[in-house]
Amino acid sequence: MTCEVFDYWTTSFYMAENENHDEIKQEALDYIYNSLESEIVVAPRAKGEGLRETNFELFHRAKEADTAGYGVGLIYDFCIKGVATAVCHKNKISVDEISVKMLDSWAHVSNDYGYHDAHNHPNCSWCGIYCVQAGESSSEPLNGINRFYSPLNSTTIDSGSGYLATNSNDYVPKDGILIVFPSYLMHSALPYSGKNDRVVISFNTIIEENPLTDYKESMKKYAEVLTVKVI
Ligand SMILES: [Fe+2]
Repeated sequence: MTCEVFDYWTTSFYMAENENHDEIKQEALDYIYNSLESEIVVAPRAKGEGLRETNFELFHRAKEADTAGYGVGLIYDFCIKGVATAVCHKNKISVDEISVKMLDSWAHVSNDYGYHDAHNHPNCSWCGIYCVQAGESSSEPLNGINRFYSPLNSTTIDSGSGYLATNSNDYVPKDGILIVFPSYLMHSALPYSGKNDRVVISFNTIIEENPLTDYKESMKKYAEVLTVKVI
């Protein structure tokens, strides 16, 4: 039998490690703590206990701050590359065809059981979470993990639907690790408590076509690889 597979509406996560994280970690932490707001102003009902957050222009202000924002500015550069890599892999296009536009970005500093309830990020296409300091985040016991929920609503679990068996996937933050995911995914940050704070930067992006390339011609060129013959 000859059979073709068409994987429609697949959900992909991407994970990238910043090998230079240790060199910039302390500078990034200093800038983030100096950028903390006195109160939660965005979605306050979804956030609680010991959660603090910065303004929502963290990356942009760090870039403008020059040397003071050096650590966070380098994280911004890393995140832009990470998103570009994910987007190009997922859409089977090359990096010179797109331009990643950073929208809002912010840091969360958690301790004393600070949490962020289930939510997604509207008005963007790809989102990221960069872990500046994981603290004592762990899966056992559950402490400060990010939980991502299935976008599917299937409730039938038989031998044919084993690949849908888990309705959530947990990610344990690690220093210098960026995760990139599509904006439609619901996710949460479970309560965190530890000797050191848990510090992450989150952000939203949109992807524009690079005005220097012919996007439509490019898409025709790559359309042929969208179908994969498996047998
Ligand atoms: Fe989020």
